[in-house]
Amino acid sequence: MALKPLKQISFKRPLIIAHRGYRAKYPENTLASFSAALDIGVKMIELDVMLTRDRKMVVIHDATLERTTDGHGQVNGYTLQELKALDAGSWFHPSFAGERLPELEEVLDLVSDRTLINIEIKSNAYEPHHPSDAIERQVVELVRRKKAHAFVLISSFEWKILDSVTSMETPPAIALISKYPAESDNVKHCIKLKAFSWHPNCRELTYDQVKTMREQGIRVFPYNVDSREEYQQMIQMDVDGVITSAPPLVSVLDPA
Ligand code: G3P
Ligand code: CA
Repeated sequence: MALKPLKQISFKRPLIIAHRGYRAKYPENTLASFSAALDIGVKMIELDVMLTRDRKMVVIHDATLERTTDGHGQVNGYTLQELKALDAGSWFHPSFAGERLPELEEVLDLVSDRTLINIEIKSNAYEPHHPSDAIERQVVELVRRKKAHAFVLISSFEWKILDSVTSMETPPAIALISKYPAESDNVKHCIKLKAFSWHPNCRELTYDQVKTMREQGIRVFPYNVDSREEYQQMIQMDVDGVITSAPPLVSVLDPA
């Protein structure tokens, strides 16, 4: 049976989206963090992806290694094999020593069809000439190979990456992320890209902005909704879901 693409899937509002996994309690963007998010029953996992020196897809937020590993320098200055030797858990807590930076494929294999996955392609991985192994092309190819269209949402702050995704054959659903929700181009881009959803910074969001997007049929999932107060504010604004580092704090999910 053909799987439904994400665009055709209905979900219960608000959708709880685990930001870099269960980031409040686990080292972000690691298999431990994603496993913990799955265990507490989140409905979507968010992660960040960029390219290594040998142009493999690695899951990490920063362009540099210092904050979340014991390495130094630029992520794209190292091969995947070199990055795999780093410790991506001890910085958070000694009990996570030995956690590794995952490849995107490892996360897709871990999550499989257990929940939805929001793959954020970082802006600094953008290449204006879109080479055949550009990151967005590799992500779409991997999703195709894994037959994961029904589970994957590709997001980015960089609308040109999303534009490139939508120009490919059978593109997965896409989402625009906006640090500044008030910029009028956000609405224009989301409509042009036929975005599944819009992911604005919750600290700058207004009720009218939510209403405008929802009237266009675009779902609104604000990010960094990390406290009960912010969650309540977002629910009052009638958002469709929240991206949070602390899923149990903002929802009825049980703490791990
Ligand atoms: O998906 C929204 C959010 O993840 C964007 O911000 O910096 O945490 O990747 P950042
Ligand atoms: Ca992100």
